Amino acid sequence: MNRDVIVALDFDSKEKVFAFLDKFEGRKPFVKIGMELYYAEGPEIVKEIKRRGHKIFLDLKLHDIPNTVKKAMAVLSALDVDMTNLHASGTVRMMQGALEGLTRADGTRPMLIAVTQLTSTDQESMEKDLWIEKPLDEVVMHYAENAKVAGLDGVVCSPLEAGKVHGVCGDNFVTVTPGVRFADGDIGDQKRVTTPAKARELGSDFIVVGRPITAAEDPVAAYNRCVKEFLGE
Ligand code: C5P
Repeated sequence: MNRDVIVALDFDSKEKVFAFLDKFEGRKPFVKIGMELYYAEGPEIVKEIKRRGHKIFLDLKLHDIPNTVKKAMAVLSALDVDMTNLHASGTVRMMQGALEGLTRADGTRPMLIAVTQLTSTDQESMEKDLWIEKPLDEVVMHYAENAKVAGLDGVVCSPLEAGKVHGVCGDNFVTVTPGVRFADGDIGDQKRVTTPAKARELGSDFIVVGRPITAAEDPVAAYNRCVKEFLGE
């Protein structure tokens, strides 16, 4: 498994995406397509970015009954993305169904990653709204273990949780971590942030970086800085 920097393409149209990607000239960053872009442009945007030679993390966070998720994953597997995801709270059975759906006839499949508890959920909202009365970090680790039991490849989590997830689920269980900021940058609405260098130290396998790159005056320089700090290249 290769560690990498994933750029979050949080744009609402293909014109904005291609204007952004064209700045990279020959370079092909690993990119994340989320709900905003996918719902705006549909599966065609995924195919087009793939044709341009990028690796893709399709971040649609599926959560439904096992049969529906299995069938949806079978459709997504034909898009030939490199990584996709779902909510671990959909249960182990749902995650197993997802894996079955995602696996192609020749046995290959994209990496499948679980969201544990969203980083926008805190202890208070989890207890008050979800009626889960356990410490948040225990819930995150339990969901990570469920994802591992179901056969998934890893979880989305905070870089601050990456070490603990590896401790519980093993070094090969992948951690994909948003919430990354440069030491001298704006944190925006993210709460618990780390620098790319710190994320590397904490054991993140993939960092997902949006605004520090997409909103930078020079996005290519910002991407290169991220790669240098995170991969040491
Ligand atoms: O702009 P920024 O670097 O904060 O973007 C982070 C990206 O990672 C966004 O696309 C956001 O939706 C996503 N993400 C996150 N926290 C999670 C899961 C996904 O920030 N727990």
